[in-house]
Amino acid sequence: MIIAIDGPAASGKSTVAKELAQRLGYLYIDSGAMFRAVTYYALEQGLSNEAALKPELEKLHLKSIPGGIEIDGKKLYDELRSKEVDLNVSYYSAMASLRECLKNIQRQEALCHDVIMDGRDIGTAVFPQAEIKIFLSASPEERARRRYSQRNNSLSYEEILKDIKRRDKIDSTRDIAPLKQAKDAIYIDTSTLSLEEVLNKIEGIINNVSLCSQYHC
Ligand code: DC
Repeated sequence: MIIAIDGPAASGKSTVAKELAQRLGYLYIDSGAMFRAVTYYALEQGLSNEAALKPELEKLHLKSIPGGIEIDGKKLYDELRSKEVDLNVSYYSAMASLRECLKNIQRQEALCHDVIMDGRDIGTAVFPQAEIKIFLSASPEERARRRYSQRNNSLSYEEILKDIKRRDKIDSTRDIAPLKQAKDAIYIDTSTLSLEEVLNKIEGIINNVSLCSQYHC
């Protein structure tokens, strides 16, 4: 079974997906971390546009590891959430060659496993056939508040809010695989819900889908 959880930055996707994967015994794949890892790599290597990045992508070895990403033999964890990566990740994520490369890796990592993958285009582009699709969202203010309280960073609440709005705009207006709710995704607004309430809702959805497929309804 594939469960796709999409939504904008700081909507709670990763927390929900991680916890759910643990409860269900599924493999959790954080697709955003892959885009972050390539952004980190591109910034470090001075690959500032798609023409420079594309030939490197063909040689790049990237895989998910617990809590991070290994790229070209280097394990990345906290670096993935740095201010520089936050500021540049939407720029690199709009590149067609990068999206194609990561889509293939995402599909390969999900082979032979029950998977929960979170991102922006999992239900629309990576796994349009996913049995369960959830679209999580919350107001930009609530998302900024959460990110501000979660992270040990140098940014103020206002700066985080501005960055969230900026990324929402780039992610949802790009030409390829923009952030968009799949037609068959279930929308959950998490603004006023606790983590447990969100998890309960999704577990209810999963149980319904499992029952339906058992009785072919
Ligand atoms: O989920 P996140 O905030 O870690 O994602 C970081 C960025 O990666 C996000 O701003 C857009 C991009 N992204 C994407 O384009 N497609 C995905 N499936 C996941 C993330």
